[in-house]
Amino acid sequence: MKENYVKITATGTYIPPKILTNFNLEKMVDTTDEWITTRTGIKERHIVEETFSTSDIATLAAKDVLQKANISAEDLDAIVVATITPDMLFPSTACIVQKKLNIQKELFAFDISAACSGFVYGIAIVTSMIKSGLCNNVLLIGAETMSKFTNWKDRTTCVLFGDGAGAMILSKTEDKNENSILSVFLGADGKYSDLLYIPAGGSRMPASEKTVKENLHTIIMSGKEVFKVAVTKMVESAKKACELAGIKTKDLDLLIPHQANLRIINAVGERVEIEPEKIFVNVQKYGNMSSATTIIGLSEAIDEGRVKKGSKVCLISFGAGFTWASCVVRL
Ligand SMILES: CC(C)(COP(=O)(O)OP(=O)(O)OC[C@H]1O[C@@H](n2cnc3c(N)ncnc32)[C@H](O)[C@@H]1OP(=O)(O)O)[C@@H](O)C(=O)NCCC(=O)NCCS
Repeated sequence: MKENYVKITATGTYIPPKILTNFNLEKMVDTTDEWITTRTGIKERHIVEETFSTSDIATLAAKDVLQKANISAEDLDAIVVATITPDMLFPSTACIVQKKLNIQKELFAFDISAACSGFVYGIAIVTSMIKSGLCNNVLLIGAETMSKFTNWKDRTTCVLFGDGAGAMILSKTEDKNENSILSVFLGADGKYSDLLYIPAGGSRMPASEKTVKENLHTIIMSGKEVFKVAVTKMVESAKKACELAGIKTKDLDLLIPHQANLRIINAVGERVEIEPEKIFVNVQKYGNMSSATTIIGLSEAIDEGRVKKGSKVCLISFGAGFTWASCVVRL
């Protein structure tokens, strides 16, 4: 029997047009452009309109990638959405995207909850689905409306996040030379689960007058602790993904680390043996878009011509849980 391989057919994005700058934030909380820029590298972030939900921006990213892949939504066998800001607890955002794409044929759809690592977890899951023969063309989306779960009175978190969506079509190929997914590495450690979380709205603390009054439906984070583990695990992950792909980090054409903080990106860059110009950075424009971050980075790197056919790219992510994940892809 022939072996199945997985190729990246196309990537796409949707970035909401509305921009919130550090100067806008100066008027909302006790902060300054100078503090945000020096501590995080972020200058601005994009925010959805109030009427927009995660499935809306996920659908727009899906339309972009379908057009670039030159395939019809009817050719899809599965839709997988990585998100921690779903439209609702259920049904999955993936099912709502299926409805919004007006797909008539039967397919399967589900969400992944692995916080900022969700998209790379998605690459691992979808790769297994295609290799096992379960499906041929899968739409994988990373989409977040972080602005909807942000406490706009908390200066320690509200300056960090932004909204956006990225999408990828992964397809079956029997030609080993077309194989795009050279390695995937996943990790998690739940002992850190109370360092970055949204306390209310789940079964532990359902919505009540008290949870709304105390702003418990928004992100709570112990920034310093997250920072330390993020650097260690992202460095480990980059090295591990390259080792599994049988290459050295210096053989990479581009490293796309999770974009939460420029200081984290720089610290990772120093510890991974790679030239600084091979490290992709867009945190200044978008802030941390959680699971949408690495796919938007990859899609932008392709559109900007920073990578081309045959380039080897390592994506590294890190997020709540804690979770971490990395992969080496060949375009
Ligand atoms: C959040 C983060 C930017 C804070 O940077 P830091 O250098 O650790 O800053 P600290 O938490 O030590 O805060 C320093 C001071 O700045 C203050 N401060 C915090 N946010 C501020 C803001 N937006 N504007 C001005 N001052 C602020 C703090 O209150 C603190 O004041 P104090 O010393 O009087 O208590 C940083 O820790 C970080 O990026 N952590 C990781 C975040 C992350 O990756 N999250 C997502 C993972 S997926």
